[in-house]
Amino acid sequence: MNAQFVANYDESQVAEFDLPDPLTTFSNKHILTSTSWNELRRPELINFFESQVFGKVPGTLDAIAFEVEEESNSALGGLAKRRQVKVTITKNSRSLSFLILLYLPIKIGRAPLFLGYNFHGNHTVINDPDIIISKAWSLNNESIGITNHILTEESRGLRSSRWAITKMIEAGYGLATIYYGEIDPDKNDLTDGLHSLFYKEGQIRPAKDEWGSIGAWAWALSRAMDYVENDMEVDKTRVIVFGHSRLGKAALWAGAMDERFAGVISNDSGCGGAALSKRKFGETVAQINENFPYWFSANYKKYNNAEEKLPADQHELLALIAPRPLYVASAQEDEWADPKGEFLSAHYATPVYSLFGEAGISSNEMPGVNSPIQNTVAYHIRTGKHDVTEYDWEQYIKWATEQFD
Ligand code: GCU
Repeated sequence: MNAQFVANYDESQVAEFDLPDPLTTFSNKHILTSTSWNELRRPELINFFESQVFGKVPGTLDAIAFEVEEESNSALGGLAKRRQVKVTITKNSRSLSFLILLYLPIKIGRAPLFLGYNFHGNHTVINDPDIIISKAWSLNNESIGITNHILTEESRGLRSSRWAITKMIEAGYGLATIYYGEIDPDKNDLTDGLHSLFYKEGQIRPAKDEWGSIGAWAWALSRAMDYVENDMEVDKTRVIVFGHSRLGKAALWAGAMDERFAGVISNDSGCGGAALSKRKFGETVAQINENFPYWFSANYKKYNNAEEKLPADQHELLALIAPRPLYVASAQEDEWADPKGEFLSAHYATPVYSLFGEAGISSNEMPGVNSPIQNTVAYHIRTGKHDVTEYDWEQYIKWATEQFD
C-alpha cells in the first residue's frame, strides 16, 4: 500500500469529471440504433477494455476436454444432484485442469444456472463431505482455517453463508462453482497458472496489452460455459454468471465478452468492476494497480492518477452486457468499492439498454438501503459489509425468475 494514499470517502470531495457518452464513438459518431451499437460502438469498447484494461487473450486453445469425476443423484440429503467435472485445457503441449462443482435440482428437464467462482475452494461452499478438495495454492485465511496456502478439510462448509444453495435449488436453479485459484493463483506471479500455457519459449510475462489474472479468470468462466452448455440438465439459454468483489470484476468482463451468458451479477465488484473510476472514491486505479499489479494488463497502469485520460469508464463495461439482464449490488459499509459509483455506473449504462427497448436505472438518485430496483438492469444496496449474504441471493433469485421465466 502506498504510504501517502488516503482514500477519499467524502462525497463533497469528488471533483467534477467528464463521463464518456456510451452512445458516442471514439471518432464522435452518434449511435442511434442497436444495429450501429453492435456494429460500431460495441467492438471499439471491447477493444479498449481488452487492450487497455483487462488485457487480450493471446491465442486460442489447442484442445479442451471434460470428464465427470464424481456424481450423485441424491446429494444434500436428497435435495439435489451433484456433479464434479474436470475441465482440461491444452495449449502448446501444456495443460491445466480445473474442477466445476455443480448442484442441480432433482427434476426432469434443464435447469437455469448461476455460475461463479469461489475464493477458497469448492469444499467451502457447503458442508458436503463428497466435495473434492483442491490441491491448488490458496491465499491464507485464518478465519476459515487456511494457513500455509493449503486447502484442507478444516474449511469444509465454512463459506456456506455466501452460497444460498438450498434457496437456489428450491427455486429451481442450479449452481456451478469453481475455485479460482485453479485457473491462476492470486499472487504477483504470472509465470504460473493459465498464462504459462500461452507463453512462447522463455517468456515469463504477458505483453503490455495482454491479460492479467482477472482476464484469465474471466476467460476460464467461458471455458466452464463450454462445458455447461453441453450438460443435458442445464438450460444453456439461462446461465447467469456471478461474482463477488475481484471475482465480480471477472464476472463482468466474462459477461461483456461472451454473449452466451444470459445474465450477469456483480456483487460488490468495486474498482475495475462496476464502480466508475473517474469518481476516485475509495479504491482508485493507481491503488489497485499498486496493490495487485498482476490483475490487469500492464497498459492499465497508464491511467494511474490519470483517470481523466480514460476514454471509457466502467459504465461502458456494463453497457457491453446490454441487452442482457445485469444486476449490480453494493453494500452500505463497503465504501472502498464505492457503492454510489457502482450505482451511477448502472444508471449511465442505461441509455444502451434503452436502445434495445430494455428498462435500466433511469433515476440518478440512489435507492434506499434494502430497497432493490429490479429492471433488466437491477441494483440494490443492502445493509452490512463487503460480503455475499442470504439477502443478496434472495434478490438475485427473485430478479432472475422475473427476467427469464
Ligand atoms: C481488495 C481490492 C478490491 C477487491 C477486494 C476483494 O479490497 O482492493 O479491488 O474487490 O479486495 O476481492 O475482496
